[in-house]
Amino acid sequence: MDIKLIQLQKHGDARGSLVSLEDQKNVPFTIRRVYYLFGTQPNVRRGLHAHKNLRQLVIVVRGSCRFLLDDGNEHIEIFLDNPAQGLLIESMMWREMYDFSEDCVLMVLADAHYDESDYIRSHEQFMESKR
Ligand code: TYD
Repeated sequence: MDIKLIQLQKHGDARGSLVSLEDQKNVPFTIRRVYYLFGTQPNVRRGLHAHKNLRQLVIVVRGSCRFLLDDGNEHIEIFLDNPAQGLLIESMMWREMYDFSEDCVLMVLADAHYDESDYIRSHEQFMESKR
């Protein structure tokens, strides 16, 4: 499976670090929405859906978590703990997030506003759509 991990340039000096996100530059789409998950309880599994059209870039800005990505043919597990790394999730990709560290802040940039009709929340339906 072709996983796109984008290395984000870190501007660092003695004071600390800074990462800038700019659409059509290091973010490969126009940013229409930003949301973030925090305070995720231990042993919680989130996501468990695919999007028909939405493209997203996810960045763990603090802490760590794991992603499972499933394109219908194969699945892969990715550990994210680097605020200077973005995981690009294309449309029609099943995702699950788990093993959140207590301090995890997971930020998501998306190319469209929230739209429940863009979600596929059943894995069976996802597999059917892929066929
Ligand atoms: P949910 O889809 O369950 O989150 P996840 O897939 O990451 O586990 O979303 C939780 C709630 O937040 C749900 O009621 C929908 C709402 N929501 C918005 O209102 N806007 C958004 O941009 C997102 C992502 C969710």
